[in-house]
Amino acid sequence: MKTYIVGNWKMNFTVGESSLYLHKLLAKVHAARGLEVVVAPSTMALQTLSLQTDRRKIKLGAQNFYHQDFGAYTGEVSIAQIRSLVDYAIVGHSERRYVFRETDKDIKLKVAAAIRGGLTPILCVGETESERTFGETADVLRDQVLGGLMDVAKEDLTKVIIAYEPVWAISGHGSVKVATPLDVKEALTLIRKTLYETYGKKALEVPILFGGSVKSLNAESYLSIPGCNGLLIGGASLIAPEFLDIIEIAKRVKNERE
Ligand code: 13P
Repeated sequence: MKTYIVGNWKMNFTVGESSLYLHKLLAKVHAARGLEVVVAPSTMALQTLSLQTDRRKIKLGAQNFYHQDFGAYTGEVSIAQIRSLVDYAIVGHSERRYVFRETDKDIKLKVAAAIRGGLTPILCVGETESERTFGETADVLRDQVLGGLMDVAKEDLTKVIIAYEPVWAISGHGSVKVATPLDVKEALTLIRKTLYETYGKKALEVPILFGGSVKSLNAESYLSIPGCNGLLIGGASLIAPEFLDIIEIAKRVKNERE
């Protein structure tokens, strides 16, 4: 299975800054077999960056979209409008769930829309701090995984990527907590088991990533977890030396594994 290094730029960088930053990354990133590097800039920058990028080195992802293709949905952007610009689309990020009140229903519609439009959805799941404290992590992960995939046909399961992002470990939320590799291993195992119980062997082909305060200093500890197929990176993906270091670490860990 491929290793995925995905940078979620969130609401950072103007179009000009995004373009300069991508330019910097493209000069340093070399295509490597089995390694997929993706960046998700603001929707505003997608057009410019799609003309600029070399997709063999860095592919683009959308941070958000609406599930309908066209219509009276003021302020929204559809898969039909971005599908020629990106290969991936992040869905169900905790900032969308908790800041913008997206529900499991919204999320399942988006996952299905992305697949319909030929994009790979990166379905984010993860428990909040209080859910973890109350021992609800397993239930939350199960509900979010199965809820998000509810409208996905069994044969399309392998078109989905799942990202485990414990909300309490995401740096932009003022959190000082960092997930241990053991925390992550347990959650990834749970997610894989949930998929296996529902979809059988196909579950083994679904990439599962980890995200939450990933930096060059801890990237190897997460990438070395069996069953971890890559990383979804927020803050550190905005800093070229950090992001580039993480890509190099991913290459090394992958080579050592094979
Ligand atoms: P940080 O890496 O900044 O904690 O963000 C993680 C994240 O939310 C990526 O989608």
